[in-house]
Amino acid sequence: MSDKPNKLIEKGKRLDGRKVDELRPIKMEVGVLKRADGSCYMELGGNKAIAAVYGPRAVHPRHLQEATQVIIRYRYDMASFSVKERKRPGPDRRSIEISKVSREALAPVILKEYFPRSVIDIFVEILQADAGTRTVGINASSVALADAGIPMRGIVSSCAVGKVDGEIVLDLTGQEDNYGEADMPIAMTQDGKITLLQMDGHLTKEEFAQAIELAKKGCKQIYEVQRSALISKYEGVSNV
Ligand code: CDP
Repeated sequence: MSDKPNKLIEKGKRLDGRKVDELRPIKMEVGVLKRADGSCYMELGGNKAIAAVYGPRAVHPRHLQEATQVIIRYRYDMASFSVKERKRPGPDRRSIEISKVSREALAPVILKEYFPRSVIDIFVEILQADAGTRTVGINASSVALADAGIPMRGIVSSCAVGKVDGEIVLDLTGQEDNYGEADMPIAMTQDGKITLLQMDGHLTKEEFAQAIELAKKGCKQIYEVQRSALISKYEGVSNV
Protein backbone atom coordinates (compact mmCIF):
# COMPACT_ATOMS: atom_id res chain seq x y z
CA MET A 1 0.00 0.00 0.00
CA SER A 2 1.34 3.44 -0.91
CA ASP A 3 0.18 7.01 -0.48
CA LYS A 4 2.21 8.06 -3.52
CA PRO A 5 0.52 11.01 -5.21
CA ASN A 6 0.21 10.87 -9.04
CA LYS A 7 2.30 14.00 -9.37
CA LEU A 8 4.60 15.80 -6.99
CA ILE A 9 4.99 18.82 -9.27
CA GLU A 10 2.18 20.25 -11.34
CA LYS A 11 2.51 23.32 -13.58
CA GLY A 12 5.77 24.24 -11.85
CA LYS A 13 4.23 24.09 -8.37
CA ARG A 14 4.93 21.48 -5.71
CA LEU A 15 2.25 19.93 -3.50
CA ASP A 16 2.85 22.56 -0.80
CA GLY A 17 2.64 25.36 -3.36
CA ARG A 18 6.37 26.07 -3.59
CA LYS A 19 8.31 26.60 -6.79
CA VAL A 20 11.15 24.17 -7.46
CA ASP A 21 13.76 26.63 -6.18
CA GLU A 22 12.01 27.70 -2.98
CA LEU A 23 12.84 26.80 0.62
CA ARG A 24 10.13 25.96 3.12
CA PRO A 25 9.30 28.70 5.67
CA ILE A 26 12.05 29.14 8.26
CA LYS A 27 11.92 30.24 11.89
CA MET A 28 15.03 30.61 14.01
CA GLU A 29 15.60 31.75 17.57
CA VAL A 30 18.92 32.05 19.36
CA GLY A 31 19.62 31.46 23.08
CA VAL A 32 16.53 29.43 23.91
CA LEU A 33 18.16 27.24 26.60
CA LYS A 34 19.43 28.80 29.83
CA ARG A 35 21.83 26.00 30.86
CA ALA A 36 23.60 25.63 27.52
CA ASP A 37 26.51 27.90 26.56
CA GLY A 38 24.84 28.39 23.20
CA SER A 39 21.54 27.26 21.75
CA CYS A 40 19.23 27.66 18.81
CA TYR A 41 15.72 26.57 17.86
CA MET A 42 14.92 26.14 14.19
CA GLU A 43 11.86 25.32 12.12
CA LEU A 44 12.04 24.48 8.44
CA GLY A 45 8.60 23.66 7.14
CA GLY A 46 7.49 20.62 9.12
CA ASN A 47 10.85 20.20 10.88
CA LYS A 48 11.38 21.46 14.41
CA ALA A 49 14.75 21.09 16.09
CA ILE A 50 16.79 22.42 18.95
CA ALA A 51 20.58 22.58 19.21
CA ALA A 52 22.55 23.01 22.43
CA VAL A 53 26.28 23.68 22.67
CA TYR A 54 28.36 23.10 25.82
CA GLY A 55 31.99 24.07 26.11
CA PRO A 56 34.82 24.36 25.52
CA ARG A 57 35.05 22.31 28.73
CA ALA A 58 37.15 19.55 30.30
CA VAL A 59 37.11 16.21 28.49
CA HIS A 60 35.71 13.14 30.25
CA PRO A 61 36.98 10.48 29.96
CA ARG A 62 40.37 12.23 29.98
CA HIS A 63 42.13 9.77 27.69
CA LEU A 64 40.03 11.22 24.84
CA GLN A 65 41.62 14.65 25.15
CA GLU A 66 43.97 15.91 22.44
CA ALA A 67 47.10 17.87 23.33
CA THR A 68 46.93 20.38 20.48
CA GLN A 69 43.26 20.95 19.79
CA VAL A 70 39.71 20.81 21.04
CA ILE A 71 37.67 17.72 20.23
CA ILE A 72 34.16 18.14 18.88
CA ARG A 73 31.34 15.76 19.73
CA TYR A 74 27.97 15.90 17.99
CA ARG A 75 24.92 13.96 19.02
CA TYR A 76 21.90 13.95 16.72
CA ASP A 77 18.77 12.49 18.28
CA MET A 78 15.26 12.12 16.98
CA ALA A 79 12.49 12.21 19.59
CA SER A 80 10.19 9.16 19.58
CA PHE A 81 7.25 11.45 18.85
CA SER A 82 8.96 13.34 16.02
CA VAL A 83 7.87 10.92 13.28
CA LYS A 84 4.64 9.19 12.24
CA GLU A 85 5.68 5.73 13.41
CA ARG A 86 7.14 5.96 16.92
CA LYS A 87 10.92 5.89 16.77
CA ARG A 88 12.59 3.67 19.33
CA PRO A 89 14.45 5.96 21.74
CA GLY A 90 18.24 6.02 21.69
CA PRO A 91 20.93 5.88 19.04
CA ASP A 92 20.60 3.73 15.93
CA ARG A 93 22.67 3.36 12.77
CA ARG A 94 20.99 6.33 11.11
CA SER A 95 21.53 8.73 14.02
CA ILE A 96 25.15 7.61 14.44
CA GLU A 97 25.80 8.31 10.75
CA ILE A 98 24.05 11.69 10.89
CA SER A 99 26.00 12.65 14.03
CA LYS A 100 29.27 11.77 12.28
CA VAL A 101 28.62 13.67 9.05
CA SER A 102 27.18 16.68 10.89
CA ARG A 103 30.26 16.91 13.12
CA GLU A 104 32.44 16.77 10.01
CA ALA A 105 30.30 19.46 8.37
CA LEU A 106 30.95 21.90 11.22
CA ALA A 107 34.48 21.00 12.35
CA PRO A 108 36.35 22.76 9.48
CA VAL A 109 35.16 26.24 10.55
CA ILE A 110 35.94 25.84 14.26
CA LEU A 111 39.34 27.22 15.39
CA LYS A 112 40.21 23.99 17.16
CA GLU A 113 43.75 24.90 18.19
CA TYR A 114 42.43 27.62 20.53
CA PHE A 115 41.25 25.09 23.11
CA PRO A 116 43.66 22.16 23.47
CA ARG A 117 42.68 19.33 25.88
CA SER A 118 39.03 20.46 25.80
CA VAL A 119 35.79 19.37 24.22
CA ILE A 120 32.87 21.11 22.57
CA ASP A 121 29.64 19.10 22.84
CA ILE A 122 26.86 19.73 20.36
CA PHE A 123 23.46 18.15 20.98
CA VAL A 124 20.65 18.19 18.43
CA GLU A 125 17.13 17.06 19.25
CA ILE A 126 14.66 16.66 16.44
CA LEU A 127 11.21 17.39 17.86
CA GLN A 128 9.31 17.06 14.59
CA ALA A 129 10.63 15.60 11.36
CA ASP A 130 9.69 16.09 7.73
CA ALA A 131 12.89 15.38 5.74
CA GLY A 132 16.07 17.43 5.86
CA THR A 133 16.48 17.04 9.62
CA ARG A 134 20.26 16.71 9.35
CA THR A 135 20.39 20.04 7.49
CA VAL A 136 18.25 21.69 10.18
CA GLY A 137 20.52 20.23 12.87
CA ILE A 138 23.62 21.62 11.16
CA ASN A 139 22.09 25.09 10.66
CA ALA A 140 20.88 25.30 14.25
CA SER A 141 24.19 23.97 15.64
CA SER A 142 26.20 26.44 13.63
CA VAL A 143 24.23 29.30 15.18
CA ALA A 144 24.38 27.71 18.65
CA LEU A 145 28.19 27.52 18.32
CA ALA A 146 28.30 31.23 17.50
CA ASP A 147 25.94 31.91 20.42
CA ALA A 148 28.36 30.00 22.69
CA GLY A 149 31.13 32.35 21.54
CA ILE A 150 33.17 29.60 19.90
CA PRO A 151 35.73 31.20 17.57
CA MET A 152 34.92 30.20 14.00
CA ARG A 153 36.02 31.13 10.49
CA GLY A 154 32.37 31.53 9.52
CA ILE A 155 28.95 29.98 9.73
CA VAL A 156 28.00 26.72 8.04
CA SER A 157 24.67 26.64 6.22
CA SER A 158 22.95 23.54 4.95
CA CYS A 159 20.04 22.49 2.76
CA ALA A 160 18.98 19.53 0.70
CA VAL A 161 18.49 19.48 -3.05
CA GLY A 162 17.21 16.62 -5.13
CA LYS A 163 15.20 15.41 -8.08
CA VAL A 164 11.44 15.08 -8.04
CA ASP A 165 9.25 14.27 -11.08
CA GLY A 166 12.35 14.76 -13.25
CA GLU A 167 13.06 18.28 -11.93
CA ILE A 168 15.87 19.54 -9.71
CA VAL A 169 14.30 20.93 -6.54
CA LEU A 170 15.39 22.69 -3.37
CA ASP A 171 14.57 21.50 0.16
CA LEU A 172 12.57 18.27 -0.24
CA THR A 173 9.60 17.43 1.99
CA GLY A 174 9.15 13.92 3.40
CA GLN A 175 6.83 13.03 0.56
CA GLU A 176 9.27 14.33 -2.06
CA ASP A 177 12.11 12.47 -0.36
CA ASN A 178 10.11 9.21 -0.33
CA TYR A 179 8.80 9.35 -3.88
CA GLY A 180 11.42 11.49 -5.62
CA GLU A 181 14.40 10.27 -7.64
CA ALA A 182 17.24 11.79 -5.61
CA ASP A 183 17.97 13.54 -2.32
CA MET A 184 21.26 15.33 -1.74
CA PRO A 185 21.92 17.10 1.58
CA ILE A 186 24.71 19.68 1.35
CA ALA A 187 26.43 22.00 3.82
CA MET A 188 28.78 24.83 2.94
CA THR A 189 30.65 27.79 4.34
CA GLN A 190 29.79 31.36 3.30
CA ASP A 191 32.51 31.27 0.64
CA GLY A 192 31.04 28.13 -0.91
CA LYS A 193 33.39 25.46 0.49
CA ILE A 194 31.39 22.25 0.74
CA THR A 195 31.66 20.49 4.11
CA LEU A 196 28.90 17.90 3.63
CA LEU A 197 27.66 16.20 0.51
CA GLN A 198 25.63 13.02 0.57
CA MET A 199 23.41 11.56 -2.09
CA ASP A 200 20.61 9.06 -2.16
CA GLY A 201 19.37 8.22 -5.68
CA HIS A 202 20.69 9.12 -9.10
CA LEU A 203 21.54 12.34 -10.92
CA THR A 204 23.28 12.89 -14.25
CA LYS A 205 26.43 15.00 -14.34
CA GLU A 206 24.44 17.98 -15.63
CA GLU A 207 21.72 17.54 -13.00
CA PHE A 208 24.39 17.29 -10.31
CA ALA A 209 25.91 20.62 -11.40
CA GLN A 210 22.46 22.21 -11.47
CA ALA A 211 21.71 20.81 -8.00
CA ILE A 212 24.93 22.25 -6.56
CA GLU A 213 24.06 25.69 -7.94
CA LEU A 214 20.60 25.45 -6.39
CA ALA A 215 22.09 24.35 -3.05
CA LYS A 216 24.39 27.40 -3.12
CA LYS A 217 21.34 29.61 -3.56
CA GLY A 218 19.48 27.85 -0.73
CA CYS A 219 22.45 28.01 1.64
CA LYS A 220 22.85 31.72 0.95
CA GLN A 221 19.25 32.33 1.99
CA ILE A 222 19.69 30.20 5.10
CA TYR A 223 22.87 32.09 5.97
CA GLU A 224 20.88 35.36 5.91
CA VAL A 225 18.37 33.87 8.37
CA GLN A 226 21.19 32.63 10.64
CA ARG A 227 22.84 36.02 10.53
CA SER A 228 19.66 37.94 11.35
CA ALA A 229 18.79 35.52 14.17
CA LEU A 230 22.20 36.16 15.75
CA ILE A 231 21.97 39.90 15.19
CA SER A 232 18.54 40.08 16.76
CA LYS A 233 19.82 38.38 19.91
CA TYR A 234 22.99 40.43 20.19
CA GLU A 235 22.06 43.87 18.87
CA GLY A 236 22.26 46.37 21.64
CA VAL A 237 24.40 44.03 23.78
CA SER A 238 27.63 45.79 24.63
CA ASN A 239 31.01 44.07 25.08
CA VAL A 240 31.81 45.94 28.28
O1 CDP B 1 15.91 13.89 7.91
P1 CDP B 1 16.94 13.66 6.84
O2 CDP B 1 16.40 13.96 5.46
O3 CDP B 1 18.23 14.36 7.13
O4 CDP B 1 17.32 12.10 6.90
P2 CDP B 1 16.63 10.84 6.19
O5 CDP B 1 17.25 9.63 6.83
O6 CDP B 1 16.71 10.98 4.71
O7 CDP B 1 15.13 10.90 6.66
C1 CDP B 1 14.15 11.55 5.91
C2 CDP B 1 12.89 11.66 6.73
O8 CDP B 1 12.31 10.38 6.96
C3 CDP B 1 13.06 12.23 8.14
O9 CDP B 1 13.24 13.62 8.14
C4 CDP B 1 11.76 11.82 8.76
O10 CDP B 1 10.72 12.69 8.36
C5 CDP B 1 11.54 10.43 8.12
N1 CDP B 1 11.93 9.38 9.07
C6 CDP B 1 10.93 8.69 9.74
O11 CDP B 1 9.75 8.95 9.52
N2 CDP B 1 11.26 7.72 10.68
C7 CDP B 1 12.56 7.43 10.95
N3 CDP B 1 12.86 6.49 11.86
C8 CDP B 1 13.57 8.11 10.26
C9 CDP B 1 13.23 9.08 9.33
